[in-house]
Amino acid sequence: MPDAADAPAANDPELFDKVVNLCKRRGFVFPSAEIYGGFRSTYDYGPLGVLLLRNVKESWWRSMVQLRHDVVGLDAAILSPPAIWAASGHLASFTDPLVDCRNCNERFRFDKLKDHHVCPNCGARDSFTGARQFNLMFKTHAGPVENEGAVAYLRPETAQGMFVNFKNVLETSRKRPPFGIAQIGKSFRNEITPQNFVFRTREFEQMEMEYFVPPDEAERWYEYWCQERFQWYVDLGIPKDKLRLRAHDAEELSHYSSGTSDVEFLFPWGWDELEGIANRGDYDLTAHSTHSGERLDYFDPATGERYIPHVVEPAAGATRTAMAFLMAAYDEEEVAREGQGKGERRVVLRFHPRIAPYKVAVLPLSKNERLVPVSREVLGLLQPHFMCDYDETQAIGRRYRRQDELGTPYCVTIDFDTLDDRAVTVRDRDSMDQERIPLDDLVRYLEGKLTSSEAS
Ligand code: GAP
Repeated sequence: MPDAADAPAANDPELFDKVVNLCKRRGFVFPSAEIYGGFRSTYDYGPLGVLLLRNVKESWWRSMVQLRHDVVGLDAAILSPPAIWAASGHLASFTDPLVDCRNCNERFRFDKLKDHHVCPNCGARDSFTGARQFNLMFKTHAGPVENEGAVAYLRPETAQGMFVNFKNVLETSRKRPPFGIAQIGKSFRNEITPQNFVFRTREFEQMEMEYFVPPDEAERWYEYWCQERFQWYVDLGIPKDKLRLRAHDAEELSHYSSGTSDVEFLFPWGWDELEGIANRGDYDLTAHSTHSGERLDYFDPATGERYIPHVVEPAAGATRTAMAFLMAAYDEEEVAREGQGKGERRVVLRFHPRIAPYKVAVLPLSKNERLVPVSREVLGLLQPHFMCDYDETQAIGRRYRRQDELGTPYCVTIDFDTLDDRAVTVRDRDSMDQERIPLDDLVRYLEGKLTSSEAS
């Protein structure tokens, strides 16, 4: 994995702390079980975070399912029997090399250590035990009896749910290769070293799609999905110079893959993975067919051929991607204080409108009771169309700053003139320009603004 040394000089080393602080301060992400001292490396998504995460997932679903005719959805169970993981190879080989430091007893993932001889916790030299393979799957028991027959696993990836349902989907959806099955959901891995906030956690969300193709078309579709998936991040506002597509070399390839490329983002610690696009061949369908005894192939009536489709898989992390959107959107700038002309520094999250948690904030100029009815009316007008915030306390300048930090693209201010002219002031997050818009035109105006940057 490339390290921070690969990062361009422009990379901001303080960005990580700034974003983590903002996440806590503004209600994006909280440490889990905080009142009990926290639960290591698990996080809860607060009022803003849950909107951000939903927008990431909905943007993925829109592009992968809604705007296509060749991909259908699935929501498979998280609890799963050992048979699935025996067939997929996870029971045997979904492992990381674990070492202990004999001096401080800390545990590490051997392949992620910067120096294989020095303990990063206590500095001891050559204090590591030999590496042993540690299986990352969470094991539990289904039902009241904790015996071998009741063993179940929390899925470590959503992918297998799509392979084991291949036949069901093929028979019910009227799709034929090339076609895909897409799924968004939680996955669980007992990571040895969870790290970097929500980047690597034990409980996380994935957005995966298995695209089933005729074997001789696999390479072409692999190239296609690499480009499509890279472009998705660009279209949603991540600058191109913070993204790259990196092909795995032979030693890095997973046991099932004949080709994998990662979409990588320039995190504050260097380039790291957002998504992997893999050419999985017929590994999965063949394995499940052999283990289950079910025929998992496709008969093409046009050619009279029967074959096991090959699979191209774009596999992304929703939680990790939400973090990348936060990092890419974060900006600070010197601005004139609105209405006063004095300089001040503002923090602004320049989210793409699709990703922004709130699209519009409705802000009465003051709490004066004469403004309440029309402010509620404006909120009621906008809520069916956009996710809105409503805030009537503090000076208007401070409320604008708060919305900047939440990444809200537009603020709508109701003032005393509104009572006479039935118009409001719309403030643009990025330019801070203000425009007076009649209430009758407001929804159409905002809709136009919020979708003007759409590629599709
Ligand atoms: N089905 C293939 C598969 O699961 P993966 O590269 O292991 O491939 C896909 O996972 C994506 O899931 C990764 O690119 C990453 O975004 C996300 N992911 C994997 N492990 C994660 C973890 N421990 N915490 C957060 N996200 C994770």
